[in-house]
Amino acid sequence: MSKAESPARREPAAEAYLQAARQPQKQGRSRAKIPKIPVLGLGTWKAMEDLVTAGLVKAIGVSNFNHEQLERILTKPNLRVRPLTNQIECHPYLTQRNLISFCQSRDVSVIAYQPLGGSSGGVDLMDNPVIQTIARKHHKSPAQILIRFQIQRNVIVVPKSVNPKRILENIQVFDFELTEQDMNDLLRLNRNLRLTMFPTAENHKDYPFHIEF
Ligand SMILES: NC(=O)c1ccc[n+]([C@@H]2O[C@H](COP(=O)([O-])OP(=O)(O)OC[C@H]3O[C@@H](n4cnc5c(N)ncnc54)[C@H](OP(=O)(O)O)[C@@H]3O)[C@@H](O)[C@H]2O)c1
Repeated sequence: MSKAESPARREPAAEAYLQAARQPQKQGRSRAKIPKIPVLGLGTWKAMEDLVTAGLVKAIGVSNFNHEQLERILTKPNLRVRPLTNQIECHPYLTQRNLISFCQSRDVSVIAYQPLGGSSGGVDLMDNPVIQTIARKHHKSPAQILIRFQIQRNVIVVPKSVNPKRILENIQVFDFELTEQDMNDLLRLNRNLRLTMFPTAENHKDYPFHIEF
């Protein structure tokens, strides 16, 4: 049996593949060598659709897309595979109400990244008195409140930890419920504070953060 026909070949190589509007990664020391990449090519989307058709990927989605960019994919002529998700920065200081409601109204799920305020260069959400008060009331940690906040908005959440105790803590979020008042208090913390800005891509034609959402 050739390599191409082997059973393993029929398994998808990835569960999901995201097209990201983000800056190219720095290579070596010189930023001058960073290639300009088309971050929102409809051709790229077509290539990703081909991966699904070939059975290499189960689902495809986007990341850091604003609502206009997402709409461009959804209204693409001959769209074969709809984006499953839009992965965006989201936490109580950047609540993303408009973008979440836009995505959900079009059946595109939302994944919140940096839900705990990010790691390096992040913001210390866990010291926020409102979040601490809600945490004490529910006998939970501030991190658990931040994760539960997203779950109750029907937002998928990807908290990151390298600490086994905290990884366990971060999945123990299904045995309590935030009240409507808690949710509103958390939403009121919004200050449109974006941690991930991709400053070197600011002049790119597809830079996603020049419009409100
Ligand atoms: N699509 C994009 O453009 C994009 C951009 C940025 C990030 N992301 C993704 O988003 C995910 C999360 O991002 P992130 O790591 O920057 O932010 P994060 O999940 O908001 O925060 C992670 C930080 O919180 C700490 N932490 C985790 N659980 C905790 C707990 N229970 N109590 C106290 N501290 C806790 C971690 O420390 P310990 O590890 O020491 O526990 C780490 O310093 C990553 O998978 C990342 O790849 C995607």
